[in-house]
Amino acid sequence: MYSNTAVRELQKTTQVLLAQTNEETVAEKTLASLRDVLRFHEYRYYVLNDPLLADEEYDKLYKLLERTEKAFPQTITPDSPTQRVAQGFAKNLPAGQSNFPTVQHLVPMLSLDNSYNSDDLLDFDRKVKELSGLSTIAYCVEPKFDGGSISVIYENDLLVRGATRGDGVAGDDVTMNAKQIRSLPLSAKFSAVGIEQIEIRGEVLINKTNFAKYNQQLINEGLPPLANTRNAAAGSLRIKNPAEVAKRNLEVFVYHISYYTLRKGLSTPGELQTHTGALQLLWDVGFRSPIKEKKVFNSIEEVIQFCKDFETTRDALPYEIDGMVIKVNDIALQNELGMTSHHPRWAIAFKFKARQATTQLLKVEFQVGRTGAVTPVAKLKPVPIGGVTVSSISIHNEEYIKEKDLRIGDTVLIERAGDVIPQIVKSLTDVRSGKEEKIKFPRNCPVCKSKLFKEEEEAVWRCVNIECPAQVVERIVHFVSKDAMDIRGLGEANVRRFYDMGLLNDIPGIYQFDFEKLSTIEGFGAKSIENLQMAIEQSKSQPLYRLLYALGIRFVGETTAKNLARELHHLLDLKDFTAEALQNLEDIGPKVAGSILHFFSNKNNIEMIKQLESLGLQLRQTQKDKKKGGSLTGETFLFTGTLPTLKRSEAEAMVESLGGQIVSSVSSKLNYLVVGEKAGSKLEKAKKINSVTIISEEEFLKIIAQK
Ligand code: IVH
Repeated sequence: MYSNTAVRELQKTTQVLLAQTNEETVAEKTLASLRDVLRFHEYRYYVLNDPLLADEEYDKLYKLLERTEKAFPQTITPDSPTQRVAQGFAKNLPAGQSNFPTVQHLVPMLSLDNSYNSDDLLDFDRKVKELSGLSTIAYCVEPKFDGGSISVIYENDLLVRGATRGDGVAGDDVTMNAKQIRSLPLSAKFSAVGIEQIEIRGEVLINKTNFAKYNQQLINEGLPPLANTRNAAAGSLRIKNPAEVAKRNLEVFVYHISYYTLRKGLSTPGELQTHTGALQLLWDVGFRSPIKEKKVFNSIEEVIQFCKDFETTRDALPYEIDGMVIKVNDIALQNELGMTSHHPRWAIAFKFKARQATTQLLKVEFQVGRTGAVTPVAKLKPVPIGGVTVSSISIHNEEYIKEKDLRIGDTVLIERAGDVIPQIVKSLTDVRSGKEEKIKFPRNCPVCKSKLFKEEEEAVWRCVNIECPAQVVERIVHFVSKDAMDIRGLGEANVRRFYDMGLLNDIPGIYQFDFEKLSTIEGFGAKSIENLQMAIEQSKSQPLYRLLYALGIRFVGETTAKNLARELHHLLDLKDFTAEALQNLEDIGPKVAGSILHFFSNKNNIEMIKQLESLGLQLRQTQKDKKKGGSLTGETFLFTGTLPTLKRSEAEAMVESLGGQIVSSVSSKLNYLVVGEKAGSKLEKAKKINSVTIISEEEFLKIIAQK
């Protein structure tokens, strides 16, 4: 898309413009280059995943553009980076219209035929050869992205429309939402190859990291998480508030040109004679197309092998794919083969092993968590999905049950995508016998029988009896857990056991164990008692942030606990904070502040903290609490092969001292693979994942030096 010279020029201009970001506006004549620079950096960031500018610098330039455009509104172009900005619900839809307008696709959006094994693919190859009379066919194989399909139209280089698939003939006009997808260019130089109008198809995705973040946000708000990235992406496209869509961080891969018109007198550009040429053309004008992921083969056997190999890397990709798509590469041949009413004869999907299964919902149990939240858990007839047997799935809350119309005895479709917690996608209502029973949500705590309460704007019913045994146990389990006080030997099972035996009644009880009595319990030998004693003793000097997190204050996760601990001398300082003072701290909003105040206004909690102090726990800020996350916070590293000068342990220590993390395997969660001599399979695997940056020791040291 940009030549090396262009990149250098744009970088230079970027620097010149950055120097002007303190000015109120730039001159009108500078606007075009300011827009070019911003478009260039958007492309580097969203399409190539390889930014050349810090986020803050981008923001400064963007704000400068906004200010200047305000001064010269007549100059605003439809493809100016500011024109993505969500116009809001009202402006997006014609007055009085509650749904998206329906628009006709220029060419019907057909589906794909499916194949599940090598025999199906051999059949496909045989048919293609029969129909074409050819003995060798070139196939392009690329990932089958698992999101929501979209069709976009560009006219005279400008994005003019984005539409969902709908029924294949007509879909919803979601142009404003499509503009929120930053890897979709607002303009693209199709005119350079004589194209006037073009319709392109692609898949809108949400990557696994953003999906996990989004689900976590839903959970924090007491809302049920989404079952998979596909629902999240497809659903996002149809949200009626573009600003909300922007927050989802959608991405797009384009993979098919369905229609185009050429300027009079021009003939088809050479690129459009093959599918790979089309992908390249799309890439060259600024789209994200699967040019790196695709491969071309001249035999179906190689196609099959590639599909199988690709499946093994599925979990390591940053986004979900549910198979591969095999396409005849020659477009004239595609046209000759044509299509059925349902799918093209020149392409087929190869579906990976299913991550969905159907099973029976046998009964529902209600569990009480440490904050008293009562969670319904569906007990299922055990069913294997993706190598794991699933027999139990959280069904979140009463509203969720109603919304999905789940009933005991139902056949349910469940899904387990990658590392996402299994979810019920839906009940198969068509196969009901009539004997299924509605799920009754209890109004009393299933453990202590006290009345349950629900706040108006919440979906969760809670047991508010803080003495409720279920809550007490869960609070202790959380207190001793790995990321909290990390008391090994006192896992969940032992906490329950000791509690049931009356040997452990509350958190301070951990530090008052009668070890004599413990030693009489079966399976508790001298060695395990000694280990437990040591772990308990060591936990007394954990840094303050761990203790803060361990207390299990609602909404105070690890990060919040770290931010708080940095501001305190002593845990009980929190007693004296006002809501306002709390909200002045990093990352703390009204909800978190309210919860902290609530916790510290409870006398029993203060008593418990004082008791912990008298039992020898340290409640003061430690050196570890002071450390602000290092400059490599959030970055992950893995070393493979022998490094030329550093010892593995030295290199790892460098990363950790700057707040970075060492991971143990190559996956989409890995940022840097540092490669030494004789690197093996890790390197091979990393090469297949775009988001992993492969670097040498020398480059690694440069990064460390910079930080
Ligand atoms: S080609 C006529 N290529 O899969 C062209 N589709 O199950 C047909 N999909 O509706 C589409 N990745 O939404 C094609 N690389 C890819 C794809 C892909 C995902 C989706 C697409 C289609 C569905 C069919």
